[in-house]
Formats: sequence, C-alpha cells, structure tokens
Amino acid sequence: MTPSRTDPLSILGIETSCDDTAAAVLHGTKILASVVSSQDEVHSPYGGVVPELASRHHLRNVLPIIDQTLHTAGVQLEQLDGIAVTCGPGLVGSLLVGVSVAKALAAAKDLPLIGVNHLEGHLLAVRLEQEVPFPFLCLLVSGGHTSLYLARDWGNYLLLGGTRDDAAGEAFDKAAKMLGLGYPGGRVIDRLAQRGDPAAVRFPRARLKPVLSRVAGPALSTACLEPFDCAQGKLRRRIAGTGKYGFSFSGLKTALRQFLQTQGRTTFCDEDIAAGYQEAVVDMLVEPTLRAARELGLERVVVSGGVSANSRLRQRMIAEGEQCGLRVFVPSLKLCTDNAAMIAFAGTWRLACGQRASLALNASATLRL
Ligand code: KG4
Ligand code: ZN
Repeated sequence: MTPSRTDPLSILGIETSCDDTAAAVLHGTKILASVVSSQDEVHSPYGGVVPELASRHHLRNVLPIIDQTLHTAGVQLEQLDGIAVTCGPGLVGSLLVGVSVAKALAAAKDLPLIGVNHLEGHLLAVRLEQEVPFPFLCLLVSGGHTSLYLARDWGNYLLLGGTRDDAAGEAFDKAAKMLGLGYPGGRVIDRLAQRGDPAAVRFPRARLKPVLSRVAGPALSTACLEPFDCAQGKLRRRIAGTGKYGFSFSGLKTALRQFLQTQGRTTFCDEDIAAGYQEAVVDMLVEPTLRAARELGLERVVVSGGVSANSRLRQRMIAEGEQCGLRVFVPSLKLCTDNAAMIAFAGTWRLACGQRASLALNASATLRL
C-alpha cells in the first residue's frame, strides 16, 4: 500500500484492548494529547486482569477519557480526519467497548473509521519518536505476547517465532503474584530488582531446541530478503511453526514456585529474588533476539510492548546489540505500555493509504498481525 495523502492528518485513537482505557489525538506524528486511564487498582487484588471488570470499567471511562483527550488537544470531533480504534487482539469484552464507541462517533460525525491491530500499534510506536528505517527486527513483549517480527515495510510483517507458553509480561505478573507484590508485576519487580543482586539466585533459562532449524534456516534467510507477499500465508506459518526463535517462560515460573516453597524468603531477600528472576527473563529475551538479527543480516532491532519498559532489558539490549554492531531502538516509557497514540499512528498510515473500515467492523480477540 502507498499513501495517497502526505499532508499531516488529525486522528483520534481509541485503545481498550485490555485493562487500560486510552485515547489520543495525533496531528501527523505530533501527539496533541494522550490520556491513559489505568485499572491497576481494580485488578491488583486479583493478581491479574478480570475480564468482566475490565469491560465494565472501560464502559464507565471511555467517553470521559475521549472528552478529556479532545479538550487537551484543543480539537473538536468535526476537525478530525478519522478515528482509529484497536479491533484486536485482546479481551473481547474490552475491545467491543472501544470498537462500539468508535463506530458510533464515526457514524455520528461522518468520519472515516480505521480498525487497528494492537500489535501493529506496538510495533510502530517507536517511529513516533525516532526515524527507524525498514527493515528491522521487532521483539514485541507485552502481557499477552512475546514474538519476533521482521518488519519489512509498513503493513508488511513476518512472524519469525513466539512464545510456546506464557508471555514475558505474564511471567513477571505471575512472579509478582507469587511474591504477593500486586498487579501489574513487571514494574514492581523492575523496581525491586534495582536494589538486588542479579547473581544471588540463579533461575534456569529455557533454551529451546531449534526444531527443523536446518530446514528453516536457509528458507528463512532467503525468504526474508525477497519482497513478502502477505498472501504467502503458508510460508509464514511454516516459519513461525519451526520455533527457530521460540521463547518459553512457564518453566521459569515453576522454578520460582519451587524455590519459594523450598528456600524462599528466609534465605534471600525479595530484592535478590526479583533481580535473579528478572535476569533470567532478560537473558531469554536478549539472546534469541540478537541471534535472529545477526542470522538475518539485519542492522536494526526494535523492542516494544509493555515489557520494553523494563530497565534491565532496555539497558542490556542496547549495550549487547551495540557489541554486535546492531542499533537497538526502544520507545520512551509512555509509548511502551498500552496507549492510544500508537493506535492513532498505525491508523494514520492506513487512512493515508485510503483504507476504511465499515460500520460492520468487529472485535477479534485473536486477530493476527
Ligand atoms: O503492552 P502492555 O501495556 O499490555 C499488553 O498489551 O499486554 O504490557 C503489559 C505488560 C504487563 O505484563 C506488565 O507487567 C509489563 O507489561 N510491564 C513490565 C514493566 N512495565 C510493564 N514488565 C517488566 N518491567 C517493567 N518495567
Ligand atoms: Zn499492549
């Protein structure tokens, strides 16, 4: 797709895929306003997101958040060029709130509507702040996803591998729950770990066998250099299914549970446990990512999604990437975790290319990128 419009567009973005209600107004790449209303306090007592509570809170919050965003941006709905809304993947009840509101506003004001894949929002977020030319490798690490994508161009992404079980963010959230630290766990563990010794407790690292790697290796590297046609679904599935760049975090979670049952907090302080656990997660993310970038001959790596806010991951990815001649790009903290600016940004490009969603747009919990 090629953009037919090159003038800066004013877009309202709406994001309700999980537990944050977010709206943003973008003019070109300038963020005029971006508001995120967190539901952390609602879900914290349960140690994870309760879907029914999440959708009810989105219902209550979404219109006031949109009003506040438009007010801060100094923009009226009539002045917008379009409305972009996350239509998947995510919790279906939560997604439906955003999609329904976006459709109602688009219909009432006769504005173009664009459905955005949440993962594309994360993948492109860094480009709101920095020039990152295609192609690049993207490690997308959030509460629900841990995947490696080859971003070849706008809208042209190849899934290279992903987690076999838990996502990295989930691994942090479940560890925090076991330690009684509340939800979401990533930020709390990050903060605790800064005062701990990452070598005090050594947790096991999952090293996945590169299943079919001899087949996938050459197929992958040659396939990646050729223009990718999204219709080549078979190739995409074959490569993603090889596990050449897979991740796994469920063993680590079990190791923490056993550790807490046997030695636990009597021998080691929470700071050391958090630092050791975080180090294991970071090791399991950094190594396959940098290896993939080297094997594919890429020069740039983007880390995105909520877990890319992790201070240790940011620090090690940039330092170790540099050692192998790679440039690593990470968005600023406000663009790592869920926000609507990234949704408006992905929608801007699609709108400029003439894409429109009809009022039949629906939420899809399992939408693929
Ligand atoms: O992208 P995101 O906001 O929502 C999803 O799309 O899932 O990611 C949320 C995840 C949560 O699991 C949270 O614990 C994790 O990102 N997270 C972090 C940090 N900040 C948020 N994980 C590690 N360190 C952090 N500083
Ligand atoms: Zn997300």
